Order: sequence, then C-alpha cells, then structure tokens
Amino acid sequence: MKNITIDFSHSKGNINPNIYGHFSEHIGGVFYDGLWVGEDSKVENIRGFRKSLVESFKKIAPPVLRWPGGCFAETYDWRDGIGPRENRPRRVNWWYHCDHRVEPNHVGTHEFIDFCRMVGAEPYFAANMTTVSPLHIRDWIEYCNFPAGLTTLSDERAANGSAEPFNVQYWGIGNENWGDGGQMTPELCADEYRRFAAIMKSLGLKDLKLILCGANGKDLNWTRRLMKEWSDSRHGWISTYGMSIHYYVHKIAEDENFRFNEDQWYDNIFRADYMREVIDGHRGAMDEFDPQRRIKLIVDEWGNWHRDGSGPSKGYNLFEQQSSMRDAVVAALTLNIFNDRCDIVDMANVAQLCNNLHSLYLTAGENFVETPNYHVFAMYKGHQGGRQCPVISNTGSIEREGFAPLDTVSASASVKDGILTLTMANLNMTTSQNFALNCIGGSLAEEATLCVLAHEDPNTKNTFEDPFAVTPTETTIKLTADSTIELPPASVAVLTAKVL
Ligand code: AHR
Repeated sequence: MKNITIDFSHSKGNINPNIYGHFSEHIGGVFYDGLWVGEDSKVENIRGFRKSLVESFKKIAPPVLRWPGGCFAETYDWRDGIGPRENRPRRVNWWYHCDHRVEPNHVGTHEFIDFCRMVGAEPYFAANMTTVSPLHIRDWIEYCNFPAGLTTLSDERAANGSAEPFNVQYWGIGNENWGDGGQMTPELCADEYRRFAAIMKSLGLKDLKLILCGANGKDLNWTRRLMKEWSDSRHGWISTYGMSIHYYVHKIAEDENFRFNEDQWYDNIFRADYMREVIDGHRGAMDEFDPQRRIKLIVDEWGNWHRDGSGPSKGYNLFEQQSSMRDAVVAALTLNIFNDRCDIVDMANVAQLCNNLHSLYLTAGENFVETPNYHVFAMYKGHQGGRQCPVISNTGSIEREGFAPLDTVSASASVKDGILTLTMANLNMTTSQNFALNCIGGSLAEEATLCVLAHEDPNTKNTFEDPFAVTPTETTIKLTADSTIELPPASVAVLTAKVL
C-alpha cells in the first residue's frame, strides 16, 4: 500500500513565516490598475488600494512584501515618491524600453507602507545600487526609520503624514547586479555592496537587515566568487543579513491557446523541482566560506515565467500571465521544498503579487480574481512559524529523462499549537493517488479536515467570467487504521488534524 509517513520525533526547526513572502514591483499592471486604483476611482478602495485585494491578501497572512523592484529598483529615486501626489514627477522607468509606460509615482514610500500595514506584512525595500550613491539610500533609511523631531529628513516624513517611523528592517542592496542591474562581476558587486553597507552601518541602526545580491539560478560560480570576497575581506563583511538568489522556470511550453499537454506539464514540474538543487547548491557554496551560516539564504524571486499575453490585458501588462492547476502544483511543490529546507531558507518571495508572473491576483478595472496560486498560499498558511516534521512519501515516483525521479506526491508537514498541517501535491497529471497516512513519534485525532484544490481539466483558469472555476473544497474525514486519502490528479491538498 502506498503511504505517507510523518515523523513527529524529528525536526529541522521552525518554518520561518517569511518563506511565505511576496514581491510587488512597479512593472506593467502590478500597481497601476492592480493593487492601486487611486482614491478617486470608482473601484472600491482603501486609501487608493483595491479593497477586494486588500481583504483577500490579509486572509493569507502575508509576512513580508518586497518592493519596488526587481529591475525597477535600479533606476528608482525614492524622492520621486514622496510629498503631494499631484506634484510627483513622471519618469521613464527601467521597464520603459519594454512597454513604453511611464511611472507616475502615485505609489511611493508612504503608500506602500500603508498597504503593508493594511495587510499585516513587513516591508522589504529593494534599494538601488547601480545608479545612485550610498548617501541617497542612507537618506532613504534615515527618512523611514528615525524619530520625528530628530532630523530634517525624519521631520519631512512627519510633514508628509507619518510622525511614526516606518521601521523598515529589510533592505536589499541591489537587484540582479550580475545582469541588468549593472552587468557587474561578483567582485565588483561585492565591492559596491561593501561600499553601500559601510555607509548604512554609520546610521547606527541595530535592526537593519541588509541583503546582498546573489546569483541567478544555479550559478554557483557567482556565489563562490562573491563569498570569497566576503571571507577575504580584511575588516570582515559589514552588516550582511542575507544573500538573495532568483530562480524562475523560464520558457514554459504550451500551445497558442496557452494550454499544455502531458509532456509540457511534466517538463514544468521537473524544472520547478530543480529549485531543490539550486538551494542546496548555493548553501553548500556559501558554507565553504561561511560555515557558521552568518549570511542567510533568501530566494527573493521565484515562480513560473510563461510567455506574455495569456492574462486578461492580452499583453498590455508586461509579463502578465494566467494561472492554472499547473502553476498551483508548482507553487505547492516549491513551498514543500522550502518547508523541508527551513534550516537553510530564511525568506522567499513569489514573483509577483498581481497581474504579472505566477500571480495570486488578476485585475482590470472593477474585475478582480484570485488565481489557483492564491489558493495554494491560503492552504499553506498554517505552516508559517510551525515546527517542521520530516515526511516520507512512499507514493511511487514519476520519471523524466535528464532528471532525478520525483515522489508522485510531494508533501511537507509542520505542527503549530498542537495542530498538524500536512500539505501535498499530486504531481501526476492524469492519475489520482490513494495512500495511507502513518505517524512516527506521535498520533493524530480521528477527525481531520482535508481541503483539496483540483479541477477535472487541469488547464482550467479562473477568469473574470468564471472566477471560482478552480476553488478549494473542504471535507471532514476520519483517520482510522484502515482509512486512506485520495488525491485527484494534478491536485494540491492540505490535511489538518489535532496532534495527540
Ligand atoms: O519579476 C520580473 C523581473 O524578473 C524582475 O524585475 C527582475 O529582478 C527579474 O529578472
């Protein structure tokens, strides 16, 4: 009999809630007509932010939200986004060469912080390291984090509506500096980072968490050379909280109607699972220079990257894409990988929140829809801060040439406040999976809840016309000695039960 076994007697530690982080860039439709509609819009809003989205997002307890880029960050001047909105400049932003849209700066530091406070997320600012000086970023931190009355910049913040400091702790220094963030070598990136970090340190803020730009995909050469600079540094590496890496599954195959077949399903699943090697590879390379793991590993952009045009704007919003059960299963698989590596993954941010890659939401005017990806984050919410438990999935395997075999059912488990959260994804596109549930070092109450996200056609998408086509269903089940769990093909599920 196939089975899944949860081992309550071991743990790698607690799952950092920040593994369930998000990313929102000023690109295409993420903000404008996405998160932000403006205070005068006929779309219901809370101080300019789309009310339906705020209310929905709040429900999944987003721990952290990265902003304003991405690449956008590398030409961003934070001073453009403060003060009366009607006076803010319009700019040719980083993405102009792709979509010829200008940045109106209607969302700036105050608005973004307001959004974070509304939904309960910690802000994670991505600071420009390519086209501004360290002083410029130091000023931004002073503007955000110092008490009103102390300096001219903190008084300016108060005059702009916030007497209370924003206390932004997470500051990324640079974005993709190996690529369009300056085309740097790892050595140059390390030098620039050190120059910026030294100046930030002079602010004397103990809680500042500076994040260094790591590699693309599994480019371990970048990580080794960057970390070598770190270990060779005569004065020690200044104030580094973490190193961020990015991994997208690019060039996802589908037909002209954005539908995939079985081969394309598995291609995507196996390439998403590569995240495992990416994380282990980078942590291993970092350990060569930082065996005490003083620098944490952060995956601050991840997700599926389909070709443009499948979203409701049909290509107007750059990178906007529709989402099906394939994207939901990829999200579930990836989050299971992160949970299982909670000892090495400190934070992760799915890209991006709305009207973009692997999004949780699609919007246009008054239309608003939660994608299947949204439901995965809702179903996985119980893992945040939970104590990880190892899971052995004895459910057979799926195979593909060029890749290591995968357990047919990907699973991860954690316990919080005496409740088990067991999340599962059936990676088989056409066959349901039936298995028993076993426990080591603990037992479960007989009554459990099983919530399943699936559709008989895994290509189905939630659209404005049919917003609930793919939606989870919840049932109460009995866990007895001979009971089994049935997962439909291409599905995501969460089982919750009391741990006895
Ligand atoms: O998420 C879209 C873009 O992908 C980001 O701006 C960049 O960091 C990455 O290449």
